[in-house]
Amino acid sequence: MARLTTRSLLLPASLLAALVTAAPNPVLEARDPLITPSPARRDATKTYKNRRDLLDGIQSDVDGILSSLGNVPSYVASGVPDYFQNLPTGDSVVSSLGLSDEQLAAVPTQALNIPPYANFTDQGWNVRFHGNIYKQPTINQSKLNDLANVFLIDTSVEELPADQADEARNVTASIFVVQQGDVNVSAIRVEPFENGPGEGQNITLPYETTPEGDFDAFLPINSNGLRNGNETQEIQKLATWVTNTTEGNATAYLVPNEGLTVVSDIDDILRITKIYDPKEGLLNSFARPYVAWENMPDIYANWSQSLPNTHFHYLTTLPEQVTRNYEEFIYDTYPAGSFDTRPLNFSDVSATLSIRQFLLTKLFETFPQRKFILVADTSNSDVMRDYPGLYHSNPDQVQCIFLRNTTATDSSDRFPYNTDSFKDIPQEKYMFFVNADDLTNINIAGNTCYNTSIPQNLTFGYQGLPFGIGDQPAVNGSANNDTGAAAALGVNTGLTFFAFVSMLFWQLL
Ligand SMILES: *[C@@H]1O[C@H](CO)[C@@H](O)[C@H](O)[C@H]1NC(C)=O
Ligand SMILES: *[C@@H]1O[C@H](CO)[C@@H](O)[C@H](O)[C@H]1NC(C)=O
Ligand SMILES: *[C@@H]1O[C@H](CO)[C@@H](O)[C@H](O)[C@H]1NC(C)=O
Ligand SMILES: *[C@@H]1O[C@H](CO)[C@@H](O)[C@H](O)[C@H]1NC(C)=O
Ligand SMILES: *[C@@H]1O[C@H](CO)[C@@H](O)[C@H](O)[C@H]1NC(C)=O
Ligand SMILES: *[C@@H]1O[C@H](CO)[C@@H](O)[C@H](O)[C@H]1NC(C)=O
Ligand SMILES: *[C@@H]1O[C@H](CO)[C@@H](O)[C@H](O)[C@H]1NC(C)=O
Ligand SMILES: *[C@@H]1O[C@H](CO)[C@@H](O)[C@H](O)[C@H]1NC(C)=O
Ligand SMILES: *[C@@H]1O[C@H](CO)[C@@H](O)[C@H](O)[C@H]1NC(C)=O
Ligand SMILES: *[C@@H]1O[C@H](CO)[C@@H](O)[C@H](O)[C@H]1NC(C)=O
Ligand SMILES: *[C@@H]1O[C@H](CO)[C@@H](O)[C@H](O)[C@H]1NC(C)=O
Ligand SMILES: *[C@@H]1O[C@H](CO)[C@@H](O)[C@H](O)[C@H]1NC(C)=O
Repeated sequence: MARLTTRSLLLPASLLAALVTAAPNPVLEARDPLITPSPARRDATKTYKNRRDLLDGIQSDVDGILSSLGNVPSYVASGVPDYFQNLPTGDSVVSSLGLSDEQLAAVPTQALNIPPYANFTDQGWNVRFHGNIYKQPTINQSKLNDLANVFLIDTSVEELPADQADEARNVTASIFVVQQGDVNVSAIRVEPFENGPGEGQNITLPYETTPEGDFDAFLPINSNGLRNGNETQEIQKLATWVTNTTEGNATAYLVPNEGLTVVSDIDDILRITKIYDPKEGLLNSFARPYVAWENMPDIYANWSQSLPNTHFHYLTTLPEQVTRNYEEFIYDTYPAGSFDTRPLNFSDVSATLSIRQFLLTKLFETFPQRKFILVADTSNSDVMRDYPGLYHSNPDQVQCIFLRNTTATDSSDRFPYNTDSFKDIPQEKYMFFVNADDLTNINIAGNTCYNTSIPQNLTFGYQGLPFGIGDQPAVNGSANNDTGAAAALGVNTGLTFFAFVSMLFWQLL
């Protein structure tokens, strides 16, 4: 269970008690309906005496529910809707594979070179080289099957069609790598991209990898032949690769000082993941081919044509180990661009929830004169906090915020989301939308991000809670009232386990 933070609990004990009792067998009783406060109302002054005990009690109820459901992985019980949590690294991979030092030494070193962006400074172009140094041990098929099965719910690699089983083993193999901490990164070779401008050169990283094998450094390069970033609108590219490895290549994007950057999440906005529905989400991530969501590829293709010098930056909080699978899908389906995934030192739950902010802040600081179009969906709690947060901290840099309302087209999304931070943002700066086509013909460059034909239903509080709690739209910008909530508690609604876990999750934010 996630560490309890200092923020106040959002749900009253009586409601929790009702939910705990109800979860395995959803027959609900209304408890004190007249005095139950709305769970959607934030009340910073409210304190609870024995929070810890309350949560421990909930945890044991959750454990009970989990065991009654059978084989549910522990990351689900953590209440974080991201099942790529706490992947094994370094020593734990070595021990789970039973590798000796000699065996490991014989395995060649590899590099994950995450496609970087670069900004222009008085010293020329400044490239953010980032990635990971690791070894990829050979794992036999039966062992890979065992390891892959840890990630699947109610099915196994053996039961999947052959191509999906191969994919599941492939993704699992990319997770069971041995990161090389505290080593020097071989020189990074930089070359012109497809006979474009620039000079070949070797870049040496100034320090060793982190204990988790990561590297992340802005380094000036020799910019001979390249156009200055203050004198062009065009994105220039360079080919880069980490020498002494076979797979460490990536294209670097040299991004001019001014212009538009689309910052896009990937899961459930660019592809169908169903991250909020773990059984499906896992199959979609480990086994099945990636499928684009609706006609988002057309929308992005249109943006890259009608806004010709747009920089695309794919920023997801998936762990670094699955970066390549995502790159492959994006480059086949969407405009090419730079990437950010979750560095390995952000591993516990609270760090996981802060990584998006960390990466976004770095991007905004690197391009203080560019304007950003932020795109994602409502099932990410960090997005719901960080995207509007960036508008509040850097209003001049946020051109548009586009959020897909995942629940509107997929009722299996039971994760609540908070629209509170949108309260003071002008409507023309953002849009919640339902279908990809809602983004057609929006005049992004003209500073209007809202398609007036899409009704907005923001309550400026929690939305998407079970029983429709919190769904009454705000009246004149005031917080929604809670009469519906209490009434709803008397209704025998099909509360799923995941809705329940998601409520636990929300209390901890
Ligand atoms: C596969 O590898 C594991 C160790 O990773 C070993 O215990 C097992 O005997 C191997 N199986 C086969 C069929 O080689
Ligand atoms: C662009 O930056 C370079 C390097 O700092 C500088 O020499 C040049 O004068 C600048 N160009 C413009 C148009 O400001
Ligand atoms: C996964 O599959 C791709 C394409 O078949 C292959 O190039 C890659 O080496 C595989 N990765 C692993 C970790 O097995
Ligand atoms: C990394 O390189 C530096 C500078 O050449 C050297 O001092 C250091 O010992 C090297 N570290 C390792 C782990 O080889
Ligand atoms: C490549 O690896 C070899 C053996 O580990 C090492 O001696 C050599 O210095 C490396 N080359 C570079 C460019 O780092
Ligand atoms: C740069 O790296 C390449 C590829 O590893 C190597 O062949 C070349 O000698 C290096 N050049 C310099 C100047 O170090
Ligand atoms: C790396 O190189 C391979 C082979 O040249 C190519 O297929 C792949 O697209 C490159 N990857 C990136 C990120 O540039
Ligand atoms: C992770 O490492 C980066 C440098 O690579 C550092 O800036 C950041 O603060 C670290 N974050 C955490 C949570 O340790
Ligand atoms: C370039 O990016 C670095 C790293 O984020 C930042 O410190 C620097 O201020 C940026 N330079 C300019 C000219 O924006
Ligand atoms: C999202 O869709 C659901 C289902 O249609 C709706 O109840 C909710 O109000 C929508 N949320 C927003 C912010 O539009
Ligand atoms: C807002 O609610 C209306 C009515 O339920 C629905 O048609 C519309 O799609 C919702 N808007 C969004 C963005 O979900
Ligand atoms: C793409 O752009 C064209 C021309 O502006 C427009 O007619 C079309 O509707 C757009 N399609 C999408 C999917 O945005």
